Amino acid sequence: MSLLTRRRLLHRAALSATAAGAARTGLVGAPVAGTVASAAAVAGCDDEPDPDADPDGALRFPPGFGWGAATSAYQIEGAAKEDGRGDSVWDTFSHTPGRTRNGDTGDVAADHYHRYAQDLDLMRDLGLRSYRFSISWPRIQADGSGRPNQRGLDFYRRLVDGLHERGIAPMATLFHWDLPQALQDAGGWENRDTAERFADYADAVFGALGDRVPVWLTVNEPKTVVQNGYLWGHHAPGRQDPAAAYLVAHHLQLAHGLAVRALRATGAEGRIGPALNLHPCYPADETAEAAAATRLYDGYENRLYLDSIFKGAYPQDVLADLGAESRLVRGVRDGDLKIISSPVDLLAVQYYTPIYVTAQGDTVRRWPTSEAEWQQIYPEGMYDILTRVTRDYGPLPITITENGLPCPDTLAADGTVDDAARVDFLRDHFAAAHRAIRDGVPLESYHVWSLLDNFEWAEGYEQRWGLVYVDYPTQRRVLKRSAHWYRDVIRRNGL
Ligand code: FCB
Repeated sequence: MSLLTRRRLLHRAALSATAAGAARTGLVGAPVAGTVASAAAVAGCDDEPDPDADPDGALRFPPGFGWGAATSAYQIEGAAKEDGRGDSVWDTFSHTPGRTRNGDTGDVAADHYHRYAQDLDLMRDLGLRSYRFSISWPRIQADGSGRPNQRGLDFYRRLVDGLHERGIAPMATLFHWDLPQALQDAGGWENRDTAERFADYADAVFGALGDRVPVWLTVNEPKTVVQNGYLWGHHAPGRQDPAAAYLVAHHLQLAHGLAVRALRATGAEGRIGPALNLHPCYPADETAEAAAATRLYDGYENRLYLDSIFKGAYPQDVLADLGAESRLVRGVRDGDLKIISSPVDLLAVQYYTPIYVTAQGDTVRRWPTSEAEWQQIYPEGMYDILTRVTRDYGPLPITITENGLPCPDTLAADGTVDDAARVDFLRDHFAAAHRAIRDGVPLESYHVWSLLDNFEWAEGYEQRWGLVYVDYPTQRRVLKRSAHWYRDVIRRNGL
């Protein structure tokens, strides 16, 4: 079977775990290989008593810690044709036969557009202190440019006001992958002008909500757009074009920087930063070759996005690997990196999985995976990535804007949903975050992915990531065991 065929058969994250280096460098031979350590070893990582624990053994977080949950527009809102919303690339993609599991689309999703008031009450009942959501660009500008759609802005105004009324801090992402289809038709993120359009859109949103949103996130996981959207094509816009992929990376970064500048230009007080999914990369063995392959892997997975934003330069090893004739290298204009590295107020980290790289540049699994086969469950990776970014790029305030686990949740006859595995997962990751804080990481908040079960992109509705179960036929919401548990964590401000 060819490498390409194997890749097509893989799910999104398996790819994400092998991806960047593979397509560019030929480093990666087989996308996913076998297990190199036993599952039993997992348990070892948090057995030691935490010296920071209360006498009763509890782990307390700093006062005012921002316990939260996250969602994104296309994944929960539905109402795809209402109030002037235009099509996004995800409408097109999900309506294309064969692109998503069971042909699922976000047409209805969790119907949050209509049920947002009820969902706000759920958040209040959970005791959330922060809620991270995204704004749908095609609700604000149906075709990606021009006068903003007041009905779209009004929806987010109602949402934001509802959060404030319930004492929950809004955190708004400007772009969580739902690019207006009209802009895609004009070249999408391959077209530099899309970054300019994004700045205009951001400016319209800042004008309408800048007085009510304390924290803004620019682009959600640019790397996922690059890898899943342009290398493997199992996300919108469904391309398999490595040359285009890294030009897209540059334009997404440019869009980020332009949005930061746009916020500053409004004089609004809100803080702003990027939302990056970071993968700690580890050599799979002790050879010098594995160390070198891991270093380059880390360049594609992490430094490509971190160095540009925080150091004003793309990493040399990645640039050399891409080559002087690459579209990224040719696409960078004078001044771009100054824009991209416009000072930000915080870094949003999304952590799901580590990556282990062999001497040959293959990736291997070391820990048990979740229902999302790309996800290895390794809480220590959270500690490692938080301390690493603080050491290499900080210190700067950090928020975790995503971390979570899909579980095979079912609604029992007695009306409960017992997601014990999610409770264990979150407990271990919260403990790792706590250790990072103790060791000097300025972590201010933590958003579980996700508040609600939702449309998990190419996986459709089959993977359930929510604290709250959504019974899609009735749209009834049921708090899972993890939601009850999380409410207690928040009440105690710790474990
Ligand atoms: C992240 C995405 C989010 C969700 C989770 C599971 O990569 O940002 O929308 O799909 O993965």
